[in-house]
Amino acid sequence: MKKSLVLLGMLCLTSTLNAQKLTEKNVKEIVKAMTLEEKAKMVIGCSASAFTGYGNSTLYVPGSAASTAMIERLGIPPTVLADGPAGLRISPTREGTDQTYYCTAFPIGTALACSWNSELVENVGATIGNEVLEYGVDVLLAPGQNLHRDPLCGRNFEYYSEDPILSGKMAAAYVRGVQSQGVGTSVKHFAVNNAETNRKDNDSRLDQRPLRELYLKGFEIAVKESNPWTVMTAYNAINGQQSMESRELLTDILRNEWGFDGYVMCDWAYAGLRVTDKELWAGNDLLTPGSDQQYEEVLAAVKSGKLKESDLDLNVERILGIVVKSPRFHGYKYSDKPDLKAHAEVARQAATECIVLLENKNNALPLKNTGKNVGLFGISSYDFIAGGTGSGSVNKAYTINLLDGFKNDGYTVNSELTAFYQDAIKKQLEVASLTNPYAAYLGRTALPEVSINAKMIEQSAQQDDLAVVTIGRSNGEGLDRHAFEDYLLKSVEKNLLMQVSNAFHKQGKKVIVILNISGATELEPLKEMADAVVCCWLPGQEGGNTVMDVLSGRQNPSGKLSMSIPVNYFDANTHDNFAYDYTGPSAMGKYAMTPYPKRKNVHFTEYEEGIYVGYRYYNTNNVKLSYPFGYGLSYTTFSYSNPTVKAEKDGFTATITVKNTGNVTGKEAVQLYVSAPAGGLDKPKCELKSFGKTKELKPGESQTLTFKVDSYSLASFNEKASQWETASGEYKLMFAANIEDVRQTASYVHKNAQNWKVNNVLKRVE
Ligand code: BGC
Repeated sequence: MKKSLVLLGMLCLTSTLNAQKLTEKNVKEIVKAMTLEEKAKMVIGCSASAFTGYGNSTLYVPGSAASTAMIERLGIPPTVLADGPAGLRISPTREGTDQTYYCTAFPIGTALACSWNSELVENVGATIGNEVLEYGVDVLLAPGQNLHRDPLCGRNFEYYSEDPILSGKMAAAYVRGVQSQGVGTSVKHFAVNNAETNRKDNDSRLDQRPLRELYLKGFEIAVKESNPWTVMTAYNAINGQQSMESRELLTDILRNEWGFDGYVMCDWAYAGLRVTDKELWAGNDLLTPGSDQQYEEVLAAVKSGKLKESDLDLNVERILGIVVKSPRFHGYKYSDKPDLKAHAEVARQAATECIVLLENKNNALPLKNTGKNVGLFGISSYDFIAGGTGSGSVNKAYTINLLDGFKNDGYTVNSELTAFYQDAIKKQLEVASLTNPYAAYLGRTALPEVSINAKMIEQSAQQDDLAVVTIGRSNGEGLDRHAFEDYLLKSVEKNLLMQVSNAFHKQGKKVIVILNISGATELEPLKEMADAVVCCWLPGQEGGNTVMDVLSGRQNPSGKLSMSIPVNYFDANTHDNFAYDYTGPSAMGKYAMTPYPKRKNVHFTEYEEGIYVGYRYYNTNNVKLSYPFGYGLSYTTFSYSNPTVKAEKDGFTATITVKNTGNVTGKEAVQLYVSAPAGGLDKPKCELKSFGKTKELKPGESQTLTFKVDSYSLASFNEKASQWETASGEYKLMFAANIEDVRQTASYVHKNAQNWKVNNVLKRVE
């Protein structure tokens, strides 16, 4: 007996020693050499501990989200997956060491899109990618790139825009940047994930046309233009099919039509929530975060014939195809010491270019001849919000708030106001930590505004030279925003603005409003009350400094809105089909596991507006907005001249010359909208087809921007024929400063109609 055990042991050892090891070239052979158990292990994500939310979930990099399995026998190392997108998300401290592992907090996705600068986004991506690499992570779970369908989606801040072209181009730039560092990305959440309410049990119901033209388009662009290593599926269902279980989505469209060749992982679904064999067969290769139950289910499914082993082989092959690209596979010796100082500078410069100047009456900004005493109002001035909450938050070393920003610029901030607000913050934090069970791992939300007595405002108006009021909004994973007291300004905010505005204007002093917000918010009342309105979004850790870069005039603002800002939330045509007042169990709380009785906007969402989302609706129907899509002011002025269009073999190339006609150096983002010829499919008045940004132009300096648009990009989706169609005829090209400010036009004649047939899938269930 003893002898045979020794023999067995020796045999195992020999087989381990002799087993083929994974290389970049032998993925298929390795899959052949794997046992069924090893294959099952490979498709299950590993968290080091049971899934507890966003804790220290892996052994390799604390605070990362999961890893892939290690199979030593075959030389398969684990690879580590950790969150983004506003920076890498890992634990900043570890047991047994004083060393810290902070990451840089960059501007949120929405802000980045407002730069309209793909190069800038690529550079941010590369900087984040360097932290991913140097902290020993292999795949960043970012970018998030769902569409801003409704202004109140709780995760809009992680996403870019209401327009799929802008979203797709930004996501592609981000992916190219991150992946330039030899680490991977996961474009998420695929697809039609436009609300957080009951997010795991909500069916997005829509026609194939908006599905193709709006909700899949950004992903299509990102996949084709940047080749992400992985894609993450969404929690929600699409027309009755769970995204994670949809072969139509993951195989027919993603792989067969778009040529995606990485692996797909699911969004963090508990075992039992989805059907394991269905997911794998659909093409959802990695089950994250993973559990023993799912491992057993894989084995059982193959043994019972429910899942073919050859299909499982494909899942494993795709995962290994990425493992061999990873830094861990190549034995990269990470430093755990990225250059955080240099990265903070990148974050600051990027955030400055994302700032959108919305109002600037009588050139109130930049601050030139104003004195250096400032009355700083609003709780967020002292507790600046760097980013959103949830998996998209970043454990950064610090946040520069506005108070520090002003001090760094040599201002004296009213000390009574400072004491009052700092005391209020202290008190609120004591309460907040007791009442928010998720705060520890999801990040802290913005503190509610406090009312301040009129006397303090009056005193500040007497003694200070300038008033600055910050309005703060922070949102995050698991909760959608509400129409009242969130989109709409709160009464305490309106009172504050009114009182400060009255008191300072009486003294002939200026009032500047800073919007430290996560997304579209009611802005109409500000127009009257403020001399200047500066939207810095959630700008990352250098917040206060970036705002000062613009207020001081060191930088000329060049950001423009990546979404429309409706006057009132209820102007958004999606509001009837969005849970804007839902207060039931949230996505982070108790899931509504029983789908009956089905509740509109909780268990299913009707995308009744079709393709008329955002400006496609407002602009086509002449709805009055607070600020239109693409809007943003500058300290200088630009002229647009000499539009040209040249027909190419495939589509056209257009150019426009932009000249700085003012007195200050600055950049200008130009948007190219296109109106299609009549007679084809029903279309919005115009659609964004391309955009570009000038370099810094000195006064008097010009630059010619070039836009290339191919025929496929002009196409609309005809669901009856299941094909993309580009009609022949005359297309009107509009070179615009924003969608309502067209500066030059031209036309392009598309001679022969074209079409591209695709799979007739993901149909609406009648
Ligand atoms: C989020 C993902 C995230 C994942 C891992 C999920 O709940 O929806 O965006 O990447 O958790 O943290």
